[in-house]
Amino acid sequence: MKVDVLLGLQWGDEGKGKVVDVLTPRYDAVARFQGGPNAGHTLEFEGQKYVLRSIPSGIFQGDKINIIGNGVVLDPALFKAEAEALEASGHSLKERLHISKKAHLILPTHRILDAAYEAAKGDSKVGTTGKGIGPTYTDKVSRNGIRVGDILHDFNTKYAAAKARHEQILKSLNYEYDLTKIEQSWLEGIEYLKQFRLVDSEHEMNHLLASGKSILCEGAQGTMLDIDFGSYPFVTSSNTVCAGACTGLGIAPNKIGEVYGIFKAYCTRVGSGPFPTELFDKTGDQICTLGHEFGSVTGRKRRCGWIDLVALKYAIMIDGVTKLIMMKSDVLDSFETIKACVAYKINGEEVDYFPFDIKEEVEPIYVELPGWQTDMTKMQSEDEFPEEFNAYLSFLEEQLEVPIKIVSVGPDREQTIERYTEE
Ligand code: GDP
Ligand code: IMO
Ligand code: MG
Repeated sequence: MKVDVLLGLQWGDEGKGKVVDVLTPRYDAVARFQGGPNAGHTLEFEGQKYVLRSIPSGIFQGDKINIIGNGVVLDPALFKAEAEALEASGHSLKERLHISKKAHLILPTHRILDAAYEAAKGDSKVGTTGKGIGPTYTDKVSRNGIRVGDILHDFNTKYAAAKARHEQILKSLNYEYDLTKIEQSWLEGIEYLKQFRLVDSEHEMNHLLASGKSILCEGAQGTMLDIDFGSYPFVTSSNTVCAGACTGLGIAPNKIGEVYGIFKAYCTRVGSGPFPTELFDKTGDQICTLGHEFGSVTGRKRRCGWIDLVALKYAIMIDGVTKLIMMKSDVLDSFETIKACVAYKINGEEVDYFPFDIKEEVEPIYVELPGWQTDMTKMQSEDEFPEEFNAYLSFLEEQLEVPIKIVSVGPDREQTIERYTEE
């Protein structure tokens, strides 16, 4: 069997959690391969809303196996809070949630370092989620990290050494902090982690595949936040692209099957960094209000703008997307016209690719399409789609050269429409 991968194609928050939940019944297992509690994946069903940060979004559909892979960074305190809340709401995890021993631990001092580095950057700060993601991946790559498997052997010595090293750095930055409160709950989280099945996810993944099981990998963040291909340095610290699923879970590239690329019918971004189609006008505010565009983790207002096909094409190329999923089209239900950016104008020249050093002076070139001005939130099938909406889909498919197979018309699990059009 092959592994299918679902990835955000924009700057995160495309609706990955919702669609992973919808697709999970077709798979035996769901796996996260990168990122950590910087993610906030929202799911809604039966009148309940859940926001997952480290736990895969396949956890609500029956007894599927959910795997936290080696490429993920895990904060034990946040994980404990998340897992306990799920258990309290009647979703047992202990048998179904497997955690890679090779996943790296986010230490309390990583969170403090994250804040200290951001403060030191001043106006050029990244606008991170403050969860210690960058410092944890930095320690991983510089071979100083502590992994989940380390909690079972000589943990106290390793932790004390890492903490002392971090405290030296914080001292050199003259950064004031108080560790006591967060350290206590973090150490409780370490003990809590021991109750879970700590595994070698590479063996588990390949064993599942060899025994004919199917797996869906759940990306976090989005392609434009990738450490290599995103709008560097305003990115996260992991490989959010399709290749990240291979390194973050221990599966070979030839095991990848379908690549689902998920995007909003418009575009959002949280934190700093270039965003060519960002709107600073009433339309931007309207998208923000109608789309409830506030961060699921930080509550920060998301910057909003029109869909950017230049960036989307780039993401599709890097990820090898085979099927597209369009989210939040209902947010545009009331718009008279809809714009789509098909190229950029930079220094008077038209550019149809995402440039190396993208700056504010990028002027988007738009194609304008008529809006459908119809409430689509209760629609059940593509047969009900208004003509203008079909035209919008056809336009996007023509531009992106990949079929749009799923359209989401609201946050609930049920508000998901599959398209059965010929490929
Ligand atoms: P993720 O990080 O990619 O999982 O996305 P988030 O959960 O951070 O953000 C997506 C937000 O949009 C959540 O609040 C979802 O409940 C909501 N959402 C998902 N799909 C739709 C949709 O089709 N329409 C509307 N209106 N909201 C949606
Ligand atoms: P999901 O999985 C949107 C952004 C932050 C910041 C940058 C770096 O819910 O789509 P980090 O804390 O990772 O060092 O922050 O990346 N960011 C996200 N934006 N959705 C996310 O996750 C994000 N995770 C990180 O806002 O700009
Ligand atoms: Mg999110």
